[in-house]
Amino acid sequence: MIAVTGANGQLGSAFRRLLGADTVPLTRADLDLSDVGSIAAVLDEVRPSTLINCAAYTAVDRAEDDASTARTVNADAVGEMARWTARAGARFVTFSTDYVFDGTKRGPYVESDPTRPINVYGATKRQGEIAALEADPQALVVRTSWVLSGTHPNFVATMVHLARERTLKVVDDQRGHPTLVDDLAPATLEAIRAGATGVLHLANAGVTTWYGLAREAVALAGLDPARIEPCTTDEYPTRAARPRNSVLESERIAELGLRPMPHYRSGLARIVAELVPDRS
Ligand SMILES: NC(=O)c1ccc[n+]([C@@H]2O[C@H](COP(=O)([O-])OP(=O)(O)OC[C@H]3O[C@@H](n4cnc5c(N)ncnc54)[C@H](OP(=O)(O)O)[C@@H]3O)[C@@H](O)[C@H]2O)c1
Repeated sequence: MIAVTGANGQLGSAFRRLLGADTVPLTRADLDLSDVGSIAAVLDEVRPSTLINCAAYTAVDRAEDDASTARTVNADAVGEMARWTARAGARFVTFSTDYVFDGTKRGPYVESDPTRPINVYGATKRQGEIAALEADPQALVVRTSWVLSGTHPNFVATMVHLARERTLKVVDDQRGHPTLVDDLAPATLEAIRAGATGVLHLANAGVTTWYGLAREAVALAGLDPARIEPCTTDEYPTRAARPRNSVLESERIAELGLRPMPHYRSGLARIVAELVPDRS
């Protein structure tokens, strides 16, 4: 049986939709990853054959001032879950991020590229990758990027909401792959079935900037895309630094016999329709 942590988050909810009755959803109330000492007892009770960890401290800016909690949830708890799966002979899958890279590479990042996080969130996620694979070498660490759904607060939801009221400046010098949870969850299950272990990059096809993505989403919501104007990262400083190049590619999916994920555009209209039901 498959257990999914972070079951109320964007990705956890997608696994619940996909797996239905075959999953045991674990919310924060069931398993609080900030209490690392409690993890083994909860897992002893649930006894999953596969544990998919979708829980994470994902507040990138807040993590700069709350590094200790971010590290506990994103690294220490991940190591503890991996120790449990290694002991129990269960499969462990956890998610990581494009933010493990500094964004200075000219081309796309592949799995074997050296990591160098430039913010606390990225550093704790990298510590989580290491902790998972040290404790359970059979673990699968899926790095993904710019995660989107039609059901939860995220960048697209914010842009569509704000663009109803006013024009917005959006950074046009950070590039990456938007990734839809309803594409990522099945791609992850395929990778599990293919026996993938170690680090694997999974993101939708299609590269854009936050500005480009915002324009597409706003147009799909029936608003004037001219409401989205480009700006530079320097014009829009955030608490946490963000990599300019977040483009993930996989050097492993062919060898694993996995299909490339579809273009993000094939699902973006559906996401916007879910966010703006009156347009669907
Ligand atoms: N979002 C992105 O753009 C992005 C990009 C790259 C990689 N990723 C990675 O992809 C994975 C899924 O991200 P997502 O977008 O689905 O995140 P999300 O929507 O923010 O969901 C995270 C989940 O983690 C749970 N959580 C947080 N702290 C917890 C704790 N102490 N104990 C138990 N649960 C806790 C949250 O619970 P509550 O519902 O109770 O708050 C929430 O359900 C994460 O590993 C993330 O780092 C995300």
